[in-house]
Parts: sequence; C-alpha cells; structure tokens
Amino acid sequence: MSINKVMVIGAGQMGAGIAQVFAQAGLHVKLNDREQEALDKGQAGIEKRLERAVEKGRMTDVKREEMLEHLTFTTDLQEASDCDLVIEAVVESMKVKIDVFQQLDEITPPHAILATNTSSLPITEIAAATKRPDQVIGMHFMNPVPVMKLVEIIRAIQTSDDTYASVREMAEKLQKTPVEVEDFPGFVSNRILMPMINEAIYTVHEGVASPEDVDAVMKLGMNHPMGPLTLADFIGLDTCLYIMEVLHEGFGDSKYRPCPLLRKYVKAGWLGKKSGRGFYIYE
Ligand code: CAA
Ligand code: NAD
Repeated sequence: MSINKVMVIGAGQMGAGIAQVFAQAGLHVKLNDREQEALDKGQAGIEKRLERAVEKGRMTDVKREEMLEHLTFTTDLQEASDCDLVIEAVVESMKVKIDVFQQLDEITPPHAILATNTSSLPITEIAAATKRPDQVIGMHFMNPVPVMKLVEIIRAIQTSDDTYASVREMAEKLQKTPVEVEDFPGFVSNRILMPMINEAIYTVHEGVASPEDVDAVMKLGMNHPMGPLTLADFIGLDTCLYIMEVLHEGFGDSKYRPCPLLRKYVKAGWLGKKSGRGFYIYE
C-alpha cells in the first residue's frame, strides 16, 4: 500500500519528533493535539530543531522550507479523513488510547493503518477495540525521535502481514532500523530499560546514594549516555510509572513493583523535565 498522508496524534515530546521525521522523509504530515497550547509548543520545537540543523550545515534552507510546507497543525481529529497512516502518541493510558482509536476507526478511510507509539500497553487490546484489528500495529519510536535509530514494530495477534510489511517499509524510509517484536508487556525496550530505572529509584529511596551519584556510577562506570535518573526525568516520571504498572500487572511478578518514591513524585506533579522538576530541577 502506498502511504503519502500521515497524521500524528499528540504533539508532546514524542509526537512532535515523530511528525518531524515523517516530514523529513518527504511525507505530508498533520500534527494533532486536543490542546492548542501543546500544538504550539510542538510546532515551536520542530522549528527550533530545523533552524539548528540549518545553522549547523546539516540541512539547506530550501529543504527546511520544503519540510515546513509538508507539515500542518490541527486540533481537529476529523482531518484524519484522508490519511493513509495515523500514529497515536497521546498519554500512556489504555482508556484514552482506546477512545482515540475508536474515533479514528470512524474517521479514517477503510485502507488506513492505525499505529500506536505506546511504550508498553497491549496492542492486541487496542486492535480489538476497532473494526479493523488487522490494520492496527505498534510503531514504537525512541526519545529523542530525530536522533534515535530504533523503531520497535509490535505485532498484535490480529496484525496482518501486509500491515506489518507497510510499516516496516515506512520505518526504513524514515531511515530508522526496525526490529520486529511480539506483543508482550513492555515489548523488548521497556522490559529491559524500565526495571533498571526503577531499581535506580529504589537505590535513592533506600538512601544508598544521591541521584547525582547513582547517575555518575552508570555514566562513568557503564558508559551510558545519561544516568538512569536523568533518563527517567527525560522520559517523564508519569510515563515511567505507567510502564512499571503495565509490567507489574502484565507479568504478575513482584520484581516489577513500582518504587514508592516514583509514585510519590508523580503524585506531587514532579514529572521530570517536562514539568520543571523530577529527580533534578530544570529552569
Ligand atoms: N530532540 C531532538 N534532538 C536532540 C534532542 C532532543 N530532545 N536532544 C539532543 N538532540 C540532538 C542534538 O541536536 C545533537 O545533534 P546535533 O549535534 O546534530 O545538533 C545531538 O542530539 C547530540 O546532542 P547533545 O550534544 O546536546 O547531547 P548528547 O551528546 O548528550 O546527546 C542524547 C543527547 C542523544 C539525548 C543522549 O544523551 C542519549 O542518547 N541519551 C539516552 C537516550 C535514550 O536512552 N533514549 C531512549 C529512552 S527510552 C524510550 O524512548 C522508550 C520509551 O518507551 C520510554
Ligand atoms: P507527553 O505528555 O509529552 O505528550 C502527550 C500529548 O498528548 C500532550 O500534548 C497531550 O495534550 C496530548 N493528548 C492527550 N490526550 C489526547 C487526545 N485524546 N487527543 C489528542 N492529543 C491528546 O507524552 P510523550 O512523552 O510524548 O508520550 C506519548 C506516548 O509515547 C505515550 O504513549 C508514551 O508512553 C510513548 N513514549 C514515550 C517515550 C518517552 O520517552 N517519553 C518514548 C517512547 C514512547
């Protein structure tokens, strides 16, 4: 199937990055958010990153203009009515995602593929909530999207081979490296990454070391580009907690229990970089 028009739902840190890489690959992209403020922030972020790319000589001015012409911004979900592919990147909540997918199922043309950027939620359950379960799939980008090469492609039990092939081809067109993953909690990426982050939070919670020292150990001792607490703040502590809850419930194993300190921070509204405070304070 040929994919020309794409909509990305949710203009947060992931959605804005996803819209950018699709526009960079020459596709027509509509970025949607229900909040005008979030949409404006997403647009400003894309423009700033493209400006920087031009300044650094990685992109010509002409290419930037071309990309900006391919990108539109809307709060109206009805504009998905002519899209071949939709990628949902709203909050990590099954209830909210199912609501978005059921609306998209009514709005988009029958051939359209509906993909989710969920970090951990069962794609099979999202697919089952639509009338086109064979055209639903996980397309899991990594943060920051314009920089990270990986896309996990998660097949729901209902996903057809054609849907999988189209999405894999699209990931390659975006110059990403796709990896095929079966639909199990946390897939591969977050099943491995998130317990490490949760353990780092326990280390702080139990007073073993400060956030700065935990991060220093993993950066300087293991050559990680960011320490786990800096990374948790970067991902968003609400997202980290949702993922740990999905792992805990999905596997029924106490090794995935979310650290109480993580819960406390989320309850306080300390969500990391996006809210100005998490394990660190951001000006
Ligand atoms: N958005 C877009 N581009 C960004 C960016 C952002 N938020 N942050 C940095 N960059 C770009 C910069 O523009 C820069 O590119 P140029 O030099 O070409 O301009 C490049 O990345 C390197 O940036 P910096 O030199 O400022 O910083 P750095 O070398 O420390 O790299 C980093 C920044 C790439 C984010 C690096 O710290 C890193 O790899 N961190 C770990 C990221 C990671 O683990 N991501 C996965 C998170 S888990 C996930 O995504 C799955 C999930 O479901 C939760
Ligand atoms: P975010 O909080 O930065 O952005 C979410 C955006 O969705 C907000 O702008 C919000 O206004 C919008 N939104 C919420 N409900 C909506 C609706 N019904 N319709 C339209 N817009 C709506 O979140 P994020 O970090 O970008 O995460 C988005 C998704 O991507 C989540 O499923 C998350 O698990 C996943 N993800 C996150 C990361 C990460 O590192 N943060 C990495 C990979 C995947």
